[in-house]
Amino acid sequence: MVANALIELAPASLHCSIIEIGDLALYNQDLEESPPPAWLRFRDEIRPAHGVLLVSPEYNRGVPAVLKNALDVGSRPYGASVWERKPVAVLTNSPGGIGGFGANHQIRQSLVFLNMPTMQQPEAYVGGVAKMFDDQGKLIAEGARGFFSTFMVAFADWVALHARA
Ligand SMILES: Cc1cc2nc3c(=O)[nH]c(=O)nc-3n(C[C@H](O)[C@H](O)[C@H](O)COP(=O)(O)O)c2cc1C
Repeated sequence: MVANALIELAPASLHCSIIEIGDLALYNQDLEESPPPAWLRFRDEIRPAHGVLLVSPEYNRGVPAVLKNALDVGSRPYGASVWERKPVAVLTNSPGGIGGFGANHQIRQSLVFLNMPTMQQPEAYVGGVAKMFDDQGKLIAEGARGFFSTFMVAFADWVALHARA
């Protein structure tokens, strides 16, 4: 719901799509001899993207395993990472008050090694998300709508700044 709201509020210059990560087998380098089709599909979808927005909850004050796995799958085979120099932003969210701060910064640790220019501001630790949406999944919290719009404008600028010929 958070990702859908961000997409809805994004400036027209951004053409966003959600890339599935739930079907990626746990990364195991031994499988590279005959990679699972979902790994290849995922890498092919990330490769042409001009930027990546990571939207995540937090699990036990850290990054959910499914997202870390997706970062790992995209990073290999060695020397062929789909993440290399791709601009990225991170938005974490939670029904709780801390807004996924722990997960947000754990994700950023991997982005350093993956050589992804990472948007620093605005930081986005979005707490209290359970009360922000109606039964149809529409974002109804006005303050959040304003912040999400500001965040997506900054992300569009970040992607444009790092656009590669
Ligand atoms: C295993 C597990 C660990 C969680 N740990 C945290 C946490 O550390 N911090 C937090 O704010 N919320 C935590 N939550 C609550 C999640 O933020 C909440 O369940 C969220 O809706 C999960 O999103 P998802 O259904 O897309 O995975 C946790 C939930 C689960 C299932």
